Formats: sequence, C-alpha cells, structure tokens
Amino acid sequence: MKSVTSLGVFGNPIAHSLSPRIHALFAQTRQDSINYQRYLSTPAHFPRRVAEFFRHGGQGANVTLPFKQQAASLVTKLSDRARLAGAVNTLIPYGNGQLLGDNTDGEGLIIDLKNKGFKVSERSLVVFGAGGSARGIIPLLLEQKPRCLYLINRTAEKAEMLKSQLETLGLVAANRIQVRSSATEIDEPIDLLINATSSSLNGQRLTLPSVLSENASGYDLMYADQPTVFMDQLTQAGCKNVSDGFGMLIEQAASSYQLWMEGERPDTAFVMAEMRAPS
Ligand code: ATR
Repeated sequence: MKSVTSLGVFGNPIAHSLSPRIHALFAQTRQDSINYQRYLSTPAHFPRRVAEFFRHGGQGANVTLPFKQQAASLVTKLSDRARLAGAVNTLIPYGNGQLLGDNTDGEGLIIDLKNKGFKVSERSLVVFGAGGSARGIIPLLLEQKPRCLYLINRTAEKAEMLKSQLETLGLVAANRIQVRSSATEIDEPIDLLINATSSSLNGQRLTLPSVLSENASGYDLMYADQPTVFMDQLTQAGCKNVSDGFGMLIEQAASSYQLWMEGERPDTAFVMAEMRAPS
C-alpha cells in the first residue's frame, strides 16, 4: 500500500480555498494517497508554521495570498521563475530542513492558454496590471516570444518600475515590454488581452485598446461563477474567445502536484469538468 503524502496550503483567508478539492481529485486520478490540509496563518507566525509543518513530515505545500512574497524570503533556494516573480506559491523540501521555493502561476497560465488555443508566440499582447500577479506571468509570457507585450497599469510609473526591475533581475526579453499609460495609445491591432489587475473584484471596467484583431482573445486571471466585467467588456467589443482564470488555477495546481509527487501530470481536464459541474 502507498504511504499517505502530507500536503497543505497556507493563506489568510483560507477557508474557501479550492486547493484541497483540486488536489484530492488529482490524487484520485493517479490513485495516490494524500492528506492535503488548509493552514490559516498570520505574517508573524507564517515562518514558524511552515517550519513546523515540514518538521512534522510535510512533503509539499502551496502558499497563497498574502504570503507569496514572504515565502520567497523564507526559502533556502528559489527557482529562476520564482526569483523573477518575487513570489513563491510552491514549497518543496529537499532534505535537512531546506526548502526550494517555486512559482507555478505563470506556467499554469501558459498551459491554460494553450488548452484554449489562445496564441502568444508572434502575437501582440496587452497585459493590464503591474502588481504581484502581473509580475508572476510576464516572464513566462515573454518566453513564448510574443511580437510585443504592451504593459498598462492604472498607475503608469509602477509599470515602468516593473519593467526596470525585471531588467535588473536579468530577464533577457524585458526589452520587449512596451509601457503605455493608456491602452488607447496603442496603434496596432491586439491579439490577446490579459487582465492581471484586481479590477474585476470591484466590478470596474478597464479602458481597452481601440483596435483589436479579428480573432482577438481575452483572459482574466480572476474567476467567478459569472463572466467577469473584463470578459463582458471584451465580448461587447467583439471578442469571440474570452476566458476567466479557472483553468489557470487548476493548471498551476497540477504543476505543483507534479513537483511534489513526480510521475505523470495529473489529468486536469477531468478535474476541471468535475469542479465546474453543478453540485
Ligand atoms: P496582485 O498580487 O493581485 O497583483 P497587487 O500587487 O495589489 O495585487 O496589484 C493589484 C493590481 O491591480 C495593480 O496593478 C493595481 O493598479 P495600481 O498599481 O494602479 O494600484 C491594479 N488595480 C486594482 N484595482 C484596479 C482598478 N479598479 N482599475 C485598474 N487597475 C486596478
């Protein structure tokens, strides 16, 4: 019989996290035996709680808001993508109390964009937002070699700052980022628009570029039972392919799961269908 793998997620709030259900479904598809728990913490207690979890046999953990940045300063070693993101969502023990911090958010987005047929390579992109979420996805988007990545933020200076931070950290393709203070300043048709702001949380609209390409796609990192305001805006602007970030949530979890458990990537299509089925 396989032994039980002890996993968990740290956050605040954490009660509504879907991670235990997602990982239980992954375990079901691969016939693994896991125990995945939620851990509520505070910034003051977070380092000690994480250390205790691993000391008591924890074999892997996710980190969610508001601890992703704090986790990056806590680990022994950072993956390149976690270093560029300045944030960690996956903790992996590698002996003697040492922890590797990784970040699977950007990879989760890239895989979900591929699943949906939303092309990045050689396309013109707009990313809205210059906070933690934007920083997590931009390096991975640039790896796909888009023609251009326009970065737009409500506070334009933060977008400039993010670009120069990524340059300083050694992101080779950072010079492909073009900062604009408003989407209306873009004078070429845009193929893919990604919302990495928290505007949808407040139901607020963003100013869209004036020209979208005929087959433009839109992706909101947020997810909800109903289409987000950003998705509605894009549909009204004639975009036929719009998506929320639910697929990214499942795919980033699958990447974490694979890092801890090794072997094949779990069947995410099955998990997505199970989770979206009306209960
Ligand atoms: P996260 O970790 O989710 O990225 P964050 O680091 O606080 O959170 O960043 C939030 C992002 O959403 C920022 O880019 C913010 O813009 P500002 O830098 O100008 O604050 C953006 N944002 C939040 N509410 C917004 C709104 N109503 N319209 C446009 N952008 C908004």
